[in-house]
Amino acid sequence: MVERKVDASVMPKAIWGLAGKDLLSFSEMTADALIGLVEWARVIKRWQRVGRPYRPLDGRSVALIFEKPSMRTRLSFDVGVSRLGGHPVYVSGEEIGLGKREEIRDVARVLSRYVDAVVLRTFGQERLEELAAFANVPVINALSDRFHPTQLVADLLTILEKKNKLCGVTVAWVGDGNNVLNSWLQAAALCGMHLRIATPSGFEPDDAVVTAAAQQAAVQGGSITLFHDPVEAVREAEILYTDVWTSMGQEEEEEKRSVAFAGFQVDASLVSHAAPDALVMHCLPAHRGQEISEEVLEGSHSIVFDEAENRLYAHEAILDALMRIPGKEMSKGDAQ
Ligand code: CP
Ligand code: NVA
Repeated sequence: MVERKVDASVMPKAIWGLAGKDLLSFSEMTADALIGLVEWARVIKRWQRVGRPYRPLDGRSVALIFEKPSMRTRLSFDVGVSRLGGHPVYVSGEEIGLGKREEIRDVARVLSRYVDAVVLRTFGQERLEELAAFANVPVINALSDRFHPTQLVADLLTILEKKNKLCGVTVAWVGDGNNVLNSWLQAAALCGMHLRIATPSGFEPDDAVVTAAAQQAAVQGGSITLFHDPVEAVREAEILYTDVWTSMGQEEEEEKRSVAFAGFQVDASLVSHAAPDALVMHCLPAHRGQEISEEVLEGSHSIVFDEAENRLYAHEAILDALMRIPGKEMSKGDAQ
C-alpha cells in the first residue's frame, strides 16, 4: 500500500462512505476507510491542539451505554462528543436493562428517535448486532467480548505518529487471544502490517478471525504469524503490545489464567529481544507484575499514555465520519 499525503483541510473521501454506518468491527471496512479514519483523527488532533474549534455535531446527541466498567472509552467518548459540539447522554446498561427490562429491538427503535448515534459497551457482540439491526442511527462498539475497534483507531494513530507509517510495521502481540487482539488482527491486516502473535497454548485468537485476517494481510502486503514463544514473536518487532490476561467477564478464570500466562509478561528481558527502538503499547488498564512489568510500563519504550490520549481524537474521527450528513462536506471552513 502506498503511503498517502493527507490534505489536512477536508475529511478524506475514503471515509465519506462510512456516513450512517455502524462500527461493530472492521470486518466490513476497507483499508482506505480505516486509514482515512486514522488520518482524520490526526487532523482533528492538530486542530484541537491549537485550539481551533470544530463542531460538526452541533445540535446532535449521542447515547453512551455501558454494561461493563470503563474509564478511557467512556470519558473520551463523552468529552469527544462535547468537543465536536454535540451532546453526550451517558446511561448505565443496568438502568436501561437491555434485553432484560426491555427488548433490544425496542430500545433500538426508541433511541433512534432521541439520539443521532449510540455507543454501546456490552458483553455480547450479538447484542450490538441486534441493536444495530433495529436502530436507524449509527451504532458504535465500545468493546464487546469479541472486538474493540475504537481502541484500534487510537492505536493506529499512535503508531502513525511515532513511526510515520502503518504499512509494513511489525507488531508483536504478547498475551491473550482476546477481543483487542481480534480487532488488532482485522486492523493490522487492512493496514498491511506484520502481526506476530504469542499466546499460551489454548489461548489463541479466534480461528475465523485469524483466517480472514491472514487473507486480507496477504492482499495488503502484510502477514499474520502465530507463536507460542514470546521471544520468537517479538524478534524484529517495532511495536510490542499486551493487554490483561483476564478480560472483563472472565474473572472466574483468573487463577487458571495467571498460571497459563506465566512467561508471557512484557518485561525488560522480552523487550531486549525486539528491535532496539521498539515501542511498548497497552490498551490499559494495566496490571503491573502480570502482563507487563512496572519497569517497562514506566520505562522509555512505553507510549501507553500517548496511546490513551489518542482515544479522544480517534473517537472524534469515528463520530464525525459515521454521523456525517451526506452532502455536507466537513472542511476547514467548519473549523473556524
Ligand atoms: N482501553 C479501554 O478501553 O479502557 P477502558 O476500559 O477504561 O474504557
Ligand atoms: N481485554 C480487555 C480490554 C479492556 C479495555 C477486556 O475486555 O477487559
